[in-house]
Order: sequence, then structure tokens, then C-alpha cells
Amino acid sequence: MTLLAVAVHGRGLVPPGDPVLAADDEALLRGRAAFETARVYGGKPFRLPDHLDRLAASGARIGLPPLDRAVFESLAREALDAAGEPDASLRLYWTPGREGADRPSALALVSTIPPDLEERRARGVQMVALPLGVEPDLREAAPWLLGGVKSTSYAVNMAAEAEARGRGADDAVFLARGGIVLEGPVTNIWWRRRRTLFTPGLELGILAGVTRMTLLEEAAGLGYEIREGAFPLAELAGAEEAFTSSSVREVMPVVELDGAPIWDGAPGEAAKNLQLALRKRASTFYPA
Ligand SMILES: Cc1ncc(COP(=O)(O)O)c(C=O)c1O
Repeated sequence: MTLLAVAVHGRGLVPPGDPVLAADDEALLRGRAAFETARVYGGKPFRLPDHLDRLAASGARIGLPPLDRAVFESLAREALDAAGEPDASLRLYWTPGREGADRPSALALVSTIPPDLEERRARGVQMVALPLGVEPDLREAAPWLLGGVKSTSYAVNMAAEAEARGRGADDAVFLARGGIVLEGPVTNIWWRRRRTLFTPGLELGILAGVTRMTLLEEAAGLGYEIREGAFPLAELAGAEEAFTSSSVREVMPVVELDGAPIWDGAPGEAAKNLQLALRKRASTFYPA
């Protein structure tokens, strides 16, 4: 991804690559900041209000003051106008600011979309399962673990992706104890058996993906039943197809799990149908 434009509250547009945070911003010192990644279609961020809801909720969970949505809306517009790229990713950051100063920073970053996504969508990705060692109900009961919070403490998630690549795969899926399927480092996970789609429930402390929400809304219209809950890895391994969802990668078929093919090892019909439905929705969904 190439950074195309940056807008900073109180400063406006800043050349990409210029410093925008103090050395003692807690986002850097402790990884304590909230962020969002939204997909931009036709120059407009998809479901920006939902991303702002989640940014506000993440900020509250890590002790940031309430955010001003209008600030982020105008930063997003400024950065998107400057980037001039209709198909892009928009990242929003809400940081505590300098240690002890209580003056948060708001940033908007616009970047290109990774160039290999369509090639990966066509072939499907290989996935490995990585245990987190937590009880399935712990993340919800232990708010300090920040389950479901999109904070900049993503080093564990990035290490999991690196581990997957080291094992010759493309992506990872986290497991709670007992092999209960949670989510990927930057995606939600789904699988299908006949006409039923399965996806882990939010009570497991996973991130409430905006794409997940869109797919839940679209699935019924495509004739799929939905089951959300706590499911063991064997259910995913034995599915007729699997896929992940995220704002940037959208619906990404998963064709292999821990070295074994899922079903016939080819991208499945639900992934294809839902990707089309997501794109259709995006083409008509322009927030005011
Ligand atoms: C841990 C995690 N789960 C799921 C998702 C997917 O969320 P969304 O569809 O809102 O992009 C993300 C997105 O980055 C994530 O970081």
C-alpha cells in the first residue's frame, strides 16, 4: 500500500512522510490508540458512520475522550480529495497525544489498495490456525484484553501473519482453547455447509467487522441461513467452502487450512455471491 494523502486535525493536509505525532505520543510509547480502516469506493468511504461508531467505542475502551465525528468526517474528506484516488483505503487514527498532556490527535490517511488482491481472490488463500490460549469466554469477561477493540496494539496480529507466511501460507485464524475459531489477524472468518453460513459470534470477543455486518445483511437475500456461535476448528476444516471478510480484502476465499484443502480446494459459491453483493451494495451506498 502506498500512502497518498494525510490530514491532521489542527494542521490540515500534511505531505505523506512528514512527521505528525510527538515522540511521546502514547500511540507510539504504548500502542494505545484507536484506529479504523474503511474501504473507499468511487471516492467515498463505505459505511463511514459505522466505522466512526466503532472508532468511538474502541477509543472509549482504551480511555480516550469522546471523539468529535465531524472532525473525522472533514479530515476524511480532505485526505480523500487530496489523494484523488477513487478506489483506496482510508485509515483513521485517534491517539491520546503526548504523555500526560491530555490532548488527543486525529489523523486520516489515504492509501492505495494492495495490488495482488484480485489475483488472491481468484486463486483463494491458504490459512493456518494459531492458538491464543485463552478460554472462549475470557475475552468478553476480561475487558483489559481488549477483545473486539481496534487498537494500534496490533503487533501480535502482525506476528501471526508473519508466522503464517513463514509456514508457506497467506493468512492465519486465531483459536481459543478447545480449538474454538475466533477471527483472523485482520479479518472475520466464515464457512458454509449446504445453504448455511457459519461465523464466530461477537460474544467471543472478536472484532465486530463492518464487512461482517454487511455480509450478515446480504446473506438472507441470497438464500443463506446464518449461524453465529462458538464452533471448533473441525467444523471449518470440514466445510464446503470458507472465506474471510474485511474492508480492504473484502470477501476472500480460503482454499486450504493447515496444509489440507477445504472441500475441493477451490474458491466457493458463497464467497463469490457475497463479494458480488458487497460490490453492488458499495456501488449504491453513498453516505450523505
Ligand atoms: C481483528 C480483526 N477482525 C476483523 C476485521 C474486519 O473488520 P472490517 O470488516 O470492519 O474491516 C479486522 C479489520 O481490520 C480486524 O482487525
